Amino acid sequence: MIDLRTDTITQPTAAMRKAIAEAVVGDEQKREDPTVIALEERSAVLLGHEEAVFLPTATMANQIALRILTEPGDEAIVGGDAHLFLHELGGPAVHSGLVVKSIETVDGRFSSAQLREAVNPPADLHMAPTRLVCVENTHNGGGGRVWPLEQVREVTAEARRFGLATHLDGARLLNAAVAAGVAPAEYGREFDTVSLCLSKGLGCPLGALIAGSRERMAKARRLKHLFGGAMRQAGIVAAAGLYALDNHVERLADDHANARRLAEGLVEAGMPVDLEQVETNFVQLDAAVLGLGADDAVARLRAGGVLLSFATRKDVLRAVTHLDVSAEDIEEALARIPRALTGAPVVDAAGAAPTPY
Ligand SMILES: Cc1ncc(COP(=O)(O)O)c(C=O)c1O
Repeated sequence: MIDLRTDTITQPTAAMRKAIAEAVVGDEQKREDPTVIALEERSAVLLGHEEAVFLPTATMANQIALRILTEPGDEAIVGGDAHLFLHELGGPAVHSGLVVKSIETVDGRFSSAQLREAVNPPADLHMAPTRLVCVENTHNGGGGRVWPLEQVREVTAEARRFGLATHLDGARLLNAAVAAGVAPAEYGREFDTVSLCLSKGLGCPLGALIAGSRERMAKARRLKHLFGGAMRQAGIVAAAGLYALDNHVERLADDHANARRLAEGLVEAGMPVDLEQVETNFVQLDAAVLGLGADDAVARLRAGGVLLSFATRKDVLRAVTHLDVSAEDIEEALARIPRALTGAPVVDAAGAAPTPY
């Protein structure tokens, strides 16, 4: 089975497991874990901020950011299909009492003009005061799209004109940085807070960071504890994070190249893939064009030996490349996907039906 559902399914490599096994650890809640502290210090620099806080998940990082930057009753603006709006269980309402307004976009990216239009009139006493704008880079729901640094700067400058706070959901920021050839800190310092996930393309078993000013990170530490995220010997996982920052960042370019090869091969095979949308490790395939519903398409693919998942848009599937997918796997997926979706019999090179699971 070739598993292209998502980049969160990776297994720690043998070398990462060795780093985990050798980690020097302490009580993280008491700030006595040297490995966590090393990861936080390194991540602060990486993300262009004074301080960073290690957290179990990127969802917690996003939700803590919202809580730090707003008051209950405020409005936060996000780009369409933002993860923190659509896929974090209403967290902005539950944890921070926020109204969220989503700017409609094609791929998650929006302009400073769209932001300007979306901000509630500051003097209107009947509307929730707009207090925050969030950018997601790369944009998951948009198909792994990369925000150009210039566009980020236009949006954050516009936010400042309105006195808005800014948060970057950078769960896959390093994919964006590698694809754009921009240092992550260049993106990061445009925002008041930045989140980063370690368990996606970076291949760690878990872990995330939030970065910001010292003052904001003091609040983040408090909220981390309040939300139940203050850990003990967390250096066990932070060691994986340090290992990943040393060894798994540049190789994200391999995932991007695999995604591009997959997309181009699928187009050659007549599959409905828009190459323009492929900027990082996501490939979107519009099953509707083949007359298939997403459920049907995913089931056919599973039977044909490839796992894809649902993209945010109806009847669009996504294939995500990652650490555990090789260039050879991509070639094999290129043979299997068109066969499975066009209904031709599923057989391997030797003419035998492969085992579906
Ligand atoms: C853009 C984005 N932000 C945040 C998250 C949340 O990550 P986690 O599963 O670590 O909470 C995800 C997960 O897919 C994501 O894609």
